[in-house]
Amino acid sequence: MEFSIKSGSPEKQRSACVVVGVFEPRKLTLPAELLDKAAKGYISDIIRRGDMEGKSGTTLLLHNVPGSLCDRVLLVGLGKEKEFREKEYCDAIRTAVKTLNETGAFDGTLFLTETGPKRRGVAWRIRQASMVAQEAVYRFDQYKSKKAEIRRPLRKLTFAVERRNELPPAEEALAQGNAIAEGIALARNLGNQPGNVCTPSHLAEQAQQMAQETGMSCQVLEREEMEALGMHSLLSVARGSRQAPKFIILEHKGGKVGDKPLVLVGKGITFDTGGISLKPAADMDEMKYDMCGAAAVLGTMQAAARMALPVNLVALVPSCENMPGGNASRPGDIVTSMSGQTIEILNTDAEGRLILCDALTYAERFEPEAVIDVATLTGACVVALGHVATGLFANEDSLARELLTAGEEAHDRAWHMPLWDDYQDLLKSPFADMGNVGGRWGGAITAACFLSRFAKKYEWAHLDIAGTAWKSGSDKGATGRPVSLLAHYLLKRTEKLH
Ligand code: BES
Ligand code: MN
Ligand code: ZN
Repeated sequence: MEFSIKSGSPEKQRSACVVVGVFEPRKLTLPAELLDKAAKGYISDIIRRGDMEGKSGTTLLLHNVPGSLCDRVLLVGLGKEKEFREKEYCDAIRTAVKTLNETGAFDGTLFLTETGPKRRGVAWRIRQASMVAQEAVYRFDQYKSKKAEIRRPLRKLTFAVERRNELPPAEEALAQGNAIAEGIALARNLGNQPGNVCTPSHLAEQAQQMAQETGMSCQVLEREEMEALGMHSLLSVARGSRQAPKFIILEHKGGKVGDKPLVLVGKGITFDTGGISLKPAADMDEMKYDMCGAAAVLGTMQAAARMALPVNLVALVPSCENMPGGNASRPGDIVTSMSGQTIEILNTDAEGRLILCDALTYAERFEPEAVIDVATLTGACVVALGHVATGLFANEDSLARELLTAGEEAHDRAWHMPLWDDYQDLLKSPFADMGNVGGRWGGAITAACFLSRFAKKYEWAHLDIAGTAWKSGSDKGATGRPVSLLAHYLLKRTEKLH
C-alpha cells in the first residue's frame, strides 16, 4: 500500500472514499461537520434518523454525498469523546482501513488523524496510523493454494492534517511509521513460517539478505566457531537436532566510529519440542514461534537501517532447534558456558536461557552502551501478564524506565518485574555453579535471574515476550511485538521522536 499526507478540507478531496469520525452519541467531528455543511445537512440528517450512533467499531458507508468531490464517504464510530484515547484511536484507524479494503475503493483519505487523542501530537498520530493501517491489512497466505480474494484491494491511503505547517513533521512521522511497519511485517512473516522452513539456516539467510538490501554487515558463526569460542551451553541445546546451529551477528553502523553500540539479542529457537524433557502434544505447533525474539530483533534492525538512525547497533541471534534424539542433552548433564560458569541442565525445556547466556557473554566484546535481549522465554510470564504486557527485567532502573516509556509511546507495552537477589537462591545446584531452572514459582523471574548472571559487565534489560509475540485461537499468528517498542526506544535515544 502507498501512503501520503495532505492538508485540506474533506469536501474538496477527489478521492474514492473520504473517511470521517463520529463520536457517540451522534456527534460529528470537525471534518464530518465540514462535509455536512457542504452537503447542506445531509449527513446530520442521516445521523438524526439513527443510522449511526458513533459506537466504536461501527461504520456507515454513504454514496453520492452532495457537495463533495469524492465517490464515497465512510463514517467511522469513535465511541465517547471523553474516552477517546490511544487504544480507541488505533481501533478507529483499524476499522476504517479494514472497511476500506473491503468496499471496493482503490484509495481513501482519512480525516481521523486530525481527531487523535488529546495528548498526542500530529507526529504520533501519523506514525501510529501508518503502522496500524499496515498491520490491519497484513495476511500470511503463502501456503494457501487459493488466496482469499479481495476484489478491489485498497491501494493508496492519504492521511489528512489540519494545517499546512504540520506537513513536514507528518511526512517524517510517516516515513518512520512505514519503516517500523515493515519491520513488524518482517517479524510476523518470520514468526509465521513453519519450523520446517524457518530453520536456523533460513534465519541466517534472511539476515544476510537484509544486510545486503540495507547496507548493514552480517556475519554468521558456524558450529566449529562456536565451539572454539566455548559456547558449550548454546551447543548443548543444538545437539539433538539435524539442523546446524547458527550464530548471527548483524551490525548497523549509523553512529560515530568509536561510539559504544547498543546490542540487541534475540532468542532464535526455530522449534522447541522441549528436548528430552519433551513438551506435551497439545499446541506444540505453537513452538514454531520460539524464534520470535530473533524475528523482532531482525525487524528492529531493518527498521533502524531504513530510518538511517544515527546509532551503532549490533544484533546477536543465537539460533538452533531444541529436539530430542540420541545425541541430545540429558537432564542432569553439566555444561560449561562461554563465561566459564557451569550449568546443570535440570530441564532440557529451559533451553532459551542456555542459548542466550552465551550470546550475552559474546556481547561483552562490543563494550556495549546497553544490551537488550528479547525472548519467548517462559510460560510463567504468560501466567503472570497474559497476552497484553511484555515482561521487562533490568539490572538498571533507568534503562527499564526508558523501555517502559517507549512501550507506552508505541502502544506496545511492557511491565517492570522484580529481579531481586532474593530470587537467585532458587537457582542453586549441588553439582554445578547453577541449575537451569528455579522450581515452580516465579518462573519468569528465575529465568531472568539466570540471564542476569551473564550480564554483569554492562547495563542490561530482558524482554520476555512469551505472551505477546503471537496470538492463538481464531486470529492465530505472530504479532511482530516488540518491534515497535524497540524502534521507539531507538528513535527516542537518537532524538528523532517528535
Ligand atoms: N519457549 C518456552 C516458553 C514458552 C512456553 C513460551 C509456552 C510460550 C508459551 C521455553 O523454552 C520453555 O519451555 N520454558 C519452560 C521453562 C521451564 C522448563 C522452567 C516453561 O515455561 O515451561
Ligand atoms: Mn523450552
Ligand atoms: Zn523455548
